[in-house]
Amino acid sequence: MKLGLIGTGIIGEAFVRGLINVGRFEGEIWVSRRSDSRSSSLSADFAQVSVADENQEILDRCDTLILAVLPEQVESVLQDLQLRDDHLLLSIVSSITLKSLSQWAAPCTQIYRAIPLPPIEFGVGPIPICPPCPQLDPMLSSVGTVVSLTDEDQFLSIAVGSALMAMFYEMVSKTAIFMQKGGLPPHESALYATSMWHALAGNTTRVDHQELHQMSNDCLTPGGLNEQVLFGLRDSNWYSLLEKEMDGIKERLSRY
Ligand SMILES: NC(=O)c1ccc[n+]([C@@H]2O[C@H](COP(=O)([O-])OP(=O)(O)OC[C@H]3O[C@@H](n4cnc5c(N)ncnc54)[C@H](OP(=O)(O)O)[C@@H]3O)[C@@H](O)[C@H]2O)c1
Repeated sequence: MKLGLIGTGIIGEAFVRGLINVGRFEGEIWVSRRSDSRSSSLSADFAQVSVADENQEILDRCDTLILAVLPEQVESVLQDLQLRDDHLLLSIVSSITLKSLSQWAAPCTQIYRAIPLPPIEFGVGPIPICPPCPQLDPMLSSVGTVVSLTDEDQFLSIAVGSALMAMFYEMVSKTAIFMQKGGLPPHESALYATSMWHALAGNTTRVDHQELHQMSNDCLTPGGLNEQVLFGLRDSNWYSLLEKEMDGIKERLSRY
């Protein structure tokens, strides 16, 4: 497989670093020069990564393409390029549907969408993909947990989860800030906050939303501290607002 990356931004760079460092990907990788500091550092760090000045050169040299530009750039980027019918295109753009991609990427028909998250750099995290793609499975499984979906609407519901990353990190950071304000050194505050959230999210064998909800109930000692926070946030409509934001994201993801 010769891999081409169109859009060497935050997630594109994380993807390439994960593939090589964790996934032990050994093939050629061509990346676009745009975001020169990222593309240059990738080619400096890895002999198998080369930088192309033009996107078309990447297409001409590669069989498998990862599209990682911003949503508003996708149409013009694809329409400026001559894709081949034997190209395989994996779009990791969050909000462009398969239908739009198919129109803009013709005659390429092997088109897939995935949503890797930044921890792909360390080989962890979910990678939803739609439709399922057996050819990409080994590569993606080397850097995360592949969740294959045939239904794009279900894929969009999963994509909503990826819009909660910043909110999550904000909670981690607020936890640490509070401790620091209480006099803890920054390192210990950050260590406690990251270790606590990591342990809570990472160590469970619960398999459905009811069991996950039970984990919340299990923390609720009557009259206890967790109950005070949960009920306080619930009374302030915090969870209803979160659900409303998720509905809004799903609607936005369905537009194009
Ligand atoms: N960040 C995440 O955690 C994440 C997760 C999953 C999916 N995504 C999706 O991945 C995409 C990229 O996100 P990002 O956060 O990585 O954004 P980003 O850092 O802004 O990356 C976008 C990249 O596209 C480049 N670019 C723009 N026009 C181009 C062109 N004509 N040819 C080649 N490259 C071009 C930009 O170069 P310049 O800087 O030179 O303009 C930049 O390197 C988005 O669609 C986003 O929805 C992001």
